Amino acid sequence: RKHAFTSSAITQSDIRRVTVIGSGQMGSGIAQVAAMKQHEVTLVDVNQEALERGKGYMSKSLKRVAKKKFPEDAKAQNQFVEKALGHVTLSTNASKSVSNAGLVVEAVVENLKAKQNIFVKLAMEAPDNAILASNTSSLPIAKIAAPLTLSQRKRFIGLHFFNPVPQMKLVEVVRSDEVDQKTVDDAVAFVKSIGKTPAVCKDTPGFIVNRLLLPYMMESIRLLESGVASARDIDTAMKLGAGYPMGPFELCDYVGLDTIKFIVDGWYKEGAGLKGNKLFESSKKLDELVQAGSLGVKSGKGFYDY
Ligand code: CAA
Ligand code: NAD
Repeated sequence: RKHAFTSSAITQSDIRRVTVIGSGQMGSGIAQVAAMKQHEVTLVDVNQEALERGKGYMSKSLKRVAKKKFPEDAKAQNQFVEKALGHVTLSTNASKSVSNAGLVVEAVVENLKAKQNIFVKLAMEAPDNAILASNTSSLPIAKIAAPLTLSQRKRFIGLHFFNPVPQMKLVEVVRSDEVDQKTVDDAVAFVKSIGKTPAVCKDTPGFIVNRLLLPYMMESIRLLESGVASARDIDTAMKLGAGYPMGPFELCDYVGLDTIKFIVDGWYKEGAGLKGNKLFESSKKLDELVQAGSLGVKSGKGFYDY
């Protein structure tokens, strides 16, 4: 125990430079929480518009945090926001952004090929001791890392954050069979350095939280489709009857319906031990909403209008 603490205390200061790939809901949140703890962050996306949207998410969330930290002190609030944003550099040049990174966290769309392409390129351009991490919700960590060299795979890990990142305290640290113990220790130390609580978990579909959450979400949609109750009444029931902060439809909209569909489709088709499991079969309602571009809060419409 003592040894683990000592080694994390040392490595904690090692990861000062963090590059986050993807400035969507999750990437901007990860960048924000690292910047709030004075890490030097580079946030990358494919174009300036996406980066500006990410910056908008960060500013809005930082203002909420600042208001709580410094109630009635507008100047201190502004300083807090500006200080955190000052630790974030926005970039569309992924290669350059990783050249001196200690940690690269990928948070782009939930698509295996997209993630593999990013790591094949960036793993060569990052320093050869950098930790490579994916925020994937559902894809096997070993599969994302499969095209990399063994030395890169030993530094490859899952760092699974939760939405909204600034508020949710958990990060699942997902270890494949090939990852080095040092990588796991350093990742755990990083998670603690940004004020989050790690839960280390094996590389299995859904890790811990999503393995339990997705069946709940899908069963909620099936309950709605069967006409048992309205979305609003199911949400009210789970909030007031089970003490959940959000009902299942509020949560689906919050996570993003495209992301939910990517997750269940992937598992239904080829999830280890989950393939063909009816719990993970998509549903008509989910398919229709995603097809129509109604992806939830981020697109202004999902099960509800925003
Ligand atoms: N940034 C900063 N602070 C935020 C925030 C944000 N984006 N969103 C909420 N907060 C803070 C608020 O400032 C407030 O702080 P205090 O309590 O300290 O005043 C607190 O969170 C509560 O917010 P609200 O009062 O506005 O609303 P709420 O009580 O409904 O809480 C919530 C909002 C925290 C999002 C809560 O509804 C919740 O926990 N919902 C469930 C979220 C969840 O389950 N997330 C996991 C999704 S699954 C996932 O992420 C994994 C995946 O791979 C798909
Ligand atoms: P999002 O749609 O909000 O953002 C994705 C971003 O990635 C977009 O800004 C897009 O432009 C960018 N992007 C796409 N390809 C890119 C590339 N090649 N290089 C750089 N940027 C690129 O999605 P999100 O909700 O932030 O989810 C991102 C990842 O996090 C997914 O793997 C998802 O499964 C996972 N995740 C999501 C949640 C959630 O609740 N939404 C929670 C935990 C994990």
